[in-house]
Amino acid sequence: MALYSEKVMDHFKNPRNVGIIENADGVGEVGNAKCGDIMKIYIKVENDIIADVKFETFGCGSAIASSSMATEMIKGKPLSEALTLTNKAVAEALDGLPAHKLHCSVLAEEAIRNAIENYYETHGIPYEKSECSECAKEHDHDHE
Ligand code: FES
Repeated sequence: MALYSEKVMDHFKNPRNVGIIENADGVGEVGNAKCGDIMKIYIKVENDIIADVKFETFGCGSAIASSSMATEMIKGKPLSEALTLTNKAVAEALDGLPAHKLHCSVLAEEAIRNAIENYYETHGIPYEKSECSECAKEHDHDHE
């Protein structure tokens, strides 16, 4: 079996929503200290809906594919729903990622969360700070 699914290859070669949004309502940036990859997500919010989303990812193919898929999954969705997007859902939508590449999809979950939290903060909207779904597991992996 090929290491990467066709969907991963497709989103890596033809990433959707690449770029920046000028005057974005929220911006989220996260990095993985281990591999040095960085992901930045920009969102435009209208009536609590993600009207537009763009990303810039300086990272591996799996990180690019994850950003592309994740932005597709939250576009047009309410903020509350986008906040529940897990890296697992992103990986599943890509028809899977190799185990050692799952952390790349975590960047997408975290960057989206950061962008939404940045939107809440800059607009004075109270919110509950949440931890990303896989962070605890990721930390475990660091000890392997
Ligand atoms: Fe760094 Fe994939 S290897 S995000």
